[in-house]
Amino acid sequence: MEKRGKWGSKFGFILAASGSAIGLGNIWRFPYTAGENGGGLFVMLYLIAIVCIALPVLIAAVSLGRHTGKNPVGAFESIKPGSNWKLVGYLGVGTGVMILSFYAVIAGWTVGYFFKAVTGQLNNITNKTAPETFSNFISDSYLQTGLIIVFILLTIFIVSKGVSSGIEVFSKVMMPILFVILIVLLIRSLTLKNAAEGLKYYLEPDTSKMSFKIAIAALGQAFFSLSLGMGTMITYGSYLKKKEDLLSSSLWIAFFDTSIAFLAGLIIFPAIFSQNMDPAGGPGLVFQVLPVIFAKMPGGYVFGSLFFALLMIAALTSSISMLEVPVSFAIDEKKFSRKKASILIGGIALIFAIPSALSDNFLGIMNYVWGNLSLSIGALFIAIFVAYIWKSENALIELAEGSNLLEYPDAGERFFSYKKNRKMVLWKITLKYIVPVFILVILIGIVFLGIEF
Ligand code: TRP
Repeated sequence: MEKRGKWGSKFGFILAASGSAIGLGNIWRFPYTAGENGGGLFVMLYLIAIVCIALPVLIAAVSLGRHTGKNPVGAFESIKPGSNWKLVGYLGVGTGVMILSFYAVIAGWTVGYFFKAVTGQLNNITNKTAPETFSNFISDSYLQTGLIIVFILLTIFIVSKGVSSGIEVFSKVMMPILFVILIVLLIRSLTLKNAAEGLKYYLEPDTSKMSFKIAIAALGQAFFSLSLGMGTMITYGSYLKKKEDLLSSSLWIAFFDTSIAFLAGLIIFPAIFSQNMDPAGGPGLVFQVLPVIFAKMPGGYVFGSLFFALLMIAALTSSISMLEVPVSFAIDEKKFSRKKASILIGGIALIFAIPSALSDNFLGIMNYVWGNLSLSIGALFIAIFVAYIWKSENALIELAEGSNLLEYPDAGERFFSYKKNRKMVLWKITLKYIVPVFILVILIGIVFLGIEF
């Protein structure tokens, strides 16, 4: 039987989990969803959703994972043996494969645009030619299929290397580089003409646009962005050592993830307005707007190539976290070797990826079923399980483990000290009484009103 991996350090865990959280969701999905949903108002609701709803679920998932030291199926089973709760874990394992399959399509776009950038094909692109370049690109079926194969193979390769030498090392090197390049782009973007107009659209909440749909989209985006609802953070938490501080780690992850999404918006909206492009331009937004900016800026060839390389890498640190969930399940519960599990499950994801690459409609349905519905159901059950079945009191003891609240050797004192901790009490109340209500609202929106995000 294979030995279970562990993160090398708290910092390694924070970067790997941030690597999972930070991905296409931040740099591709967040800006175009914000653009389609009225800009500033969406951004404001998103920030509220992260802090009040998604962060508490993140903390719940990580503590459940570390406490049990298991994949999602094993985690539910070890707390409520013989019950149906493990079905939530199975749903997560299946959702991981399915989300990977359509995530790989968009990730394939980043691979394709990286090659376009490096080979100079984007050097002369303008706001007139960019949309056509993009639509020709996505309608080339052979190319699209090739790109998802490349991307899924990369994902399999890293996951098969294991937790600390694959996922952790890769994330540790790449995430900081991504941050630096985004800062360079930010400076460029803020100095473009009409930048102020873009900032206004992005930052000024126009409350008259308020609607149920925008609120649902913002909540959904918050969950997706923090990789919640399918056990990714349970699995990543299971590789965390007992001596590390869960609460502060979770806060850092949410902070990094939100900052990168916010930064992406700060880059993209000024760029859109400087080129007179449409902020509600849909999923092609980032691929159409940024190349135009690169083509016009000094050193644009280098920055463009670097940007798409890093976007691809951000997608990879997320896709490996999707594959890691079913892989950890197959290793823990089915005694597969890591290599065999990665190849087999990655292969299944590839089979489902091909129809998504070839048909917009198929991809839309996959996103609706797995990306919206299944993730929301998963998040709801994870929250309810931790709050009411495992019980938040027990989760609090796990949270206190590794924090400075555990200086007290005797358990009675330990209990007392976390009970006094304001953040922990706030977390408990939110998870029990606020989070489930809001996730139910999302579900109602998805199921009964057909809202998609
Ligand atoms: N959060 C990632 C992003 O923003 C995507 C992701 C990785 C994800 N693992 C997940 C989304 C698990 C939902 C569930 O791109």
